[in-house]
Amino acid sequence: MKVLVTDPISEEGIKILKAEPDVQVDVETKLTKEQLIEKIKDYDALIIRSETQVTKDVIEAGKNLKIIGRAGVGIDNVDVPAATDKGIIVANAPEGNMIAACEHTIAMMFSMSRNIPQANISLKSGKWERSKFMGVEVLGKTLGVVGMGRIGGEVTKRVRGMGMEVLAYDPFTTPERAQAIGAKLTTLDEIYEKADFITVHTPLIPSTKHMISTPQFEKMKDGVRIINCARGGIIDEAALLEAIKSGKVAGAALDVFEKEPPVGNPLLELNQVIVTPHLGASTQEAQVNVAITIAEQVLNAFKGLPVTTA
Ligand code: NAD
Ligand code: MLT
Repeated sequence: MKVLVTDPISEEGIKILKAEPDVQVDVETKLTKEQLIEKIKDYDALIIRSETQVTKDVIEAGKNLKIIGRAGVGIDNVDVPAATDKGIIVANAPEGNMIAACEHTIAMMFSMSRNIPQANISLKSGKWERSKFMGVEVLGKTLGVVGMGRIGGEVTKRVRGMGMEVLAYDPFTTPERAQAIGAKLTTLDEIYEKADFITVHTPLIPSTKHMISTPQFEKMKDGVRIINCARGGIIDEAALLEAIKSGKVAGAALDVFEKEPPVGNPLLELNQVIVTPHLGASTQEAQVNVAITIAEQVLNAFKGLPVTTA
C-alpha cells in the first residue's frame, strides 16, 4: 500500500505508517496541482492538511485511492461528493487540535482587547506610546459563540472562568448541552444585539459561507469585536472591512482568510485588525495528535477496520 503525504505532518504519524511492513510512505510537499494529478495515480492513500486542494480532477486521477486523510478538522479543501462518488473514504482527525484552536482563539481575544500586537510593533520601533493602547477588559462582557461544537465548547468553558457571559448559536446542539458548559443557547439576532465579542466556530459549508455580512454587522452593538479562528469565508471580508471603517466594529482578530495567504487583503492594512497565518492548530501537541490519528485512520482503512469519516 502506498501513502502520499502532501502537506507537512508530524514525524510521529509517519513513523506509525512506516512501521507497517507492507506500507510505503512518500512525503512530497509543495506539489503543483499538475504534479499532484500525475503522482496520485500510484497511491492508495493521500494525507493532507489545509494547503493541498483535493479537487475533482485530483480525485479522478487517483485510480487506486482508497482514503483521503485530513490531519486536522476542516475538509473544505476536499471535494467530498467527488470522493464519495468514487467510493473513496474522507477521514479527518477531529479532536487532536481542538485545544490548540481553542487556546489560540482566547489568545487572539486578549491580544485584540489589549492591543498587544500593535503595542509590540510600536515599542520595538523605538516608541513609548502608553495612552495609544488603552484596552478593554473581558470581565462581565458577553461573548457570542457561533457554532457550539468541540472548539466553541472548549472556548465557552474557559471564558466562563474569566467572568464572561456566553450566548451561543448552533442549530444542531441542545439547550441542555449549552447550559451544561455554561452558555445560553439563543438566536443569532440575540447574539448580534448583546455580544461585545463574537467568535465563529462553524465549518465552512454553503450554509455558513458569509453568514456574517453587512446585514448582520448592522444588527451588532457599536464597538463589537470579532474573532475568526475557524475558516475564512464564514465572515464576509468585504463587509467586515466596511464595518471596521465605519466604526461599527472596533476590532477583528483573524487567523483564517478567504484566500490564503491573504496577499493584498485590505484588512491587513487596518490597525484594528490583528492577524496570524492560520496558526490555530500549530502547537507541538496538536500536530502530534492529528498525525497519529490520521495515520491510524489510514491503516484502519487498509485493514478493512472501521474508520471515522469526516
Ligand atoms: P465541530 O464539528 O466540533 O463544531 C462545529 C459546530 O458548528 C457544530 O456543532 C455544528 O453543529 C455547528 N454548525 C454547523 N452549521 C452551523 C450554522 N449554520 N450555524 C451555527 N453553527 C453551525 O468542529 P470544531 O472542531 O469545533 O471546528 C470548528 C471550526 O474550526 C472548523 O471550521 C474547523 O475547520 C476550524 N478549525 C480551525 C483551526 C485553525 O487552525 N484555525 C484549527 C482547528 C479547527
Ligand atoms: C483544521 O481544520 O484542523 C485547521 O485548519 C488546522 C490545520 O490544518 O492546520
